Amino acid sequence: MPRYHLAKRLSDLPPYLFAEIDRMKQEAIRNGVDIINLGIGDPDLPTPPHIVEALAAGGRDAANHQYPSYEGMLAFRTAAAEWYRGRFGVSLDPNTEVLSLIGSKEGIGHIPLAFIDPGDVVLAPDPGYPVYQAGTAFAVGAVHYLPLTAGRKFLPDLDGIPADVLRRARILWLNYPHNPTAAVAPRSFFEQAVAFARRHNLILCHDIAYSEIYFDGERPESLLTIDGAKDVAVEFHSLSKTYNMTGWRIGFAVGCAEILAGLGRIKTNLDSGIFQAVQVAGIAALTGPQDCVEEHRRIWQRRRDAFVKGLRELGCPLELPKASFYVWIPVPGGQNAKGFAAKVLQECGIVTTPGTGFGKAGEGYIRATLTTDVKRLEEAVDRLRRAGVHW
Ligand SMILES: Cc1ncc(COP(=O)(O)O)c(C=O)c1O
Repeated sequence: MPRYHLAKRLSDLPPYLFAEIDRMKQEAIRNGVDIINLGIGDPDLPTPPHIVEALAAGGRDAANHQYPSYEGMLAFRTAAAEWYRGRFGVSLDPNTEVLSLIGSKEGIGHIPLAFIDPGDVVLAPDPGYPVYQAGTAFAVGAVHYLPLTAGRKFLPDLDGIPADVLRRARILWLNYPHNPTAAVAPRSFFEQAVAFARRHNLILCHDIAYSEIYFDGERPESLLTIDGAKDVAVEFHSLSKTYNMTGWRIGFAVGCAEILAGLGRIKTNLDSGIFQAVQVAGIAALTGPQDCVEEHRRIWQRRRDAFVKGLRELGCPLELPKASFYVWIPVPGGQNAKGFAAKVLQECGIVTTPGTGFGKAGEGYIRATLTTDVKRLEEAVDRLRRAGVHW
C-alpha cells in the first residue's frame, strides 16, 4: 500500500498504455533478442556541430550563469521571429509575439493553467500527442476528443462538435504535421479553423513541432499565414526535431500577444526560463547555416521511401507520409492495435506503438518511427516477411 494519497489529477490520468509492450520489450532484451526499436520519437542523428560549439562558448561566458528571464533573451526571441519571417513569411514582434519555452511540451502542458477553469472544455485530436490531455487534466478541465480518420484525411470535423460542448470550449488543439498519423493540413482547413475559432471565441493552439521534417519539397504552412489568425491563435514550435535537439529543451510559442501573456504569467510563477547558453545555441541554430536541416530531410526521406516500399510489398495499404518521422500503419484485418504490436514484438523483435496509445480513434493502427537507419528498417520489413505478416 502506498503511504501517501496521490492527487486526483494524477490518479485520474488514463493508465499507461505502453506498460505491456514495455514488459515484453524488457523480456525480449533479457532473452538476447536483437530488438529493432521503432517506438521512439527521438531523432537518432546528432545535433549539428556548430550548435554544439555555440553552447560550449555560451557556457564559458559568466553572463550566462545567472537566472535567465522567463520569457527568453530578446536575442533568442528576435532570432525566432526572423526565422518565422524567412520560413513562413509571418512577421512577429519579438517583444510581445514570441515566448521562449523549455521545449514546446512545457508550453503545451502549461497553457491550460492560464485559460481553463474547472469544467471548461478543451477540444483535442484523437489520436493525438498525450500532453494536450494531461495539461487539461491538471487544470481540471475536460477534454472533448475530435476523431481523426483516414476517411477525412485525418482532419477533425469541426462542424460536428455538439453545441453544448462548444459553449463550454475554450481551447482548440491542432497539430500538423500530425503525430502520430503524419498527416498535413491543407490551407483551406486552416482557414476554416481560424474562422471557427473566431466564431466561437476559442483559443486556437497549433502544435507545429514537425514543420521542418517534410518530403518531396512540399513545405507545411504556418496557420499564422491565415488572415486574422494572430487575433486568435498561437503556434508551438520546437528546435527538438528540426535541429535534433530533443535533449536540450528549447522551443517557443508565437502569435496572439494576449494569449502568450497569459501563458507567460504561468511561467513567471513556475519556472525561470532556459539556461542562456542553450538560448545562445538556439540562436546559432535558427540563424546559422540551414544545410544541415536539408541534409536531415534527405536522410528521413530515404528512410521513409525504403520502409514504405517494403511494407507495400507485403501488401500494406498505407498512406505515404508527407511529413514527420512517423509511419501510421493499418493493422492487418481481424487484429487490434495492441495485439498486432505485441505479435510484431514477440515474433519479429520489432518495437512499435499501438495506435490506441494516442487515443481511442488510434484503434486499427500501429505507429512506427523512422529513427533508425535504412538497413535496420529493411531488416524490420524482412523480419515481418519471414514471420508471415501480410495485409
Ligand atoms: C506533436 C508533438 N508536439 C510536441 C512535442 C514536444 O517536443 P519538445 O518538447 O521537445 O519541443 C512532441 C514530442 O515528441 C510531439 O510529438
